[in-house]
Amino acid sequence: MSSTGPSRDTIQGARRLAKAAPQLLSVLLAGAWAAAPTLNATANERNATIDLGHRAFLEHCDACHGREQIGSDGGMQPATASLAIAYQGTRTPATLEDRTDLSATYVKYIVRHGDHGMPFFRKTMVSDVELEAIAAYLSRNNTR
Ligand code: HEC
Repeated sequence: MSSTGPSRDTIQGARRLAKAAPQLLSVLLAGAWAAAPTLNATANERNATIDLGHRAFLEHCDACHGREQIGSDGGMQPATASLAIAYQGTRTPATLEDRTDLSATYVKYIVRHGDHGMPFFRKTMVSDVELEAIAAYLSRNNTR
């Protein structure tokens, strides 16, 4: 048997779908309503994590990576000064908190392993929960 065009099954399937479309739409909308509070809860959790990360950053990282100027000559914190040289002539800011390219994975790796003159941190100094939060904080503006 040679047939051209859509089979009878396909046509019937399409008709059934067309009939069901309004129902499908309302099911989807109901789903979106139901999901809204969950999304809010997730956003709140994320904000709480970033907030914790900010505080942990101030406690463990800011002395070297801070934005503040130190001394009357406007000197920078050591790691900020070092990164200012490393990223001279690029658009990458010297302050970690202003970066948009840091991934959480990278931050966690550096903190546990150290980097050019940066000490590594044991879990007894920066807990996994704190590190997770610091990584979320420093990667919050990463849009990649
Ligand atoms: C004792 C000073 C010191 C402390 C404390 C410190 N760092 Fe560093 N950090 C450095 C130095 C120095 C570098 C390397 C700068 C360079 O490469 O020129 C660095 C590099 C980094 C880099 C790599 C940046 C890049 O562009 O590749 C990350 C990420 C980082 N630190 C995160 C942290 C985090 C998060 C904390 C807090 C848990 C922290 N550091 C605490 C000194 C410090």
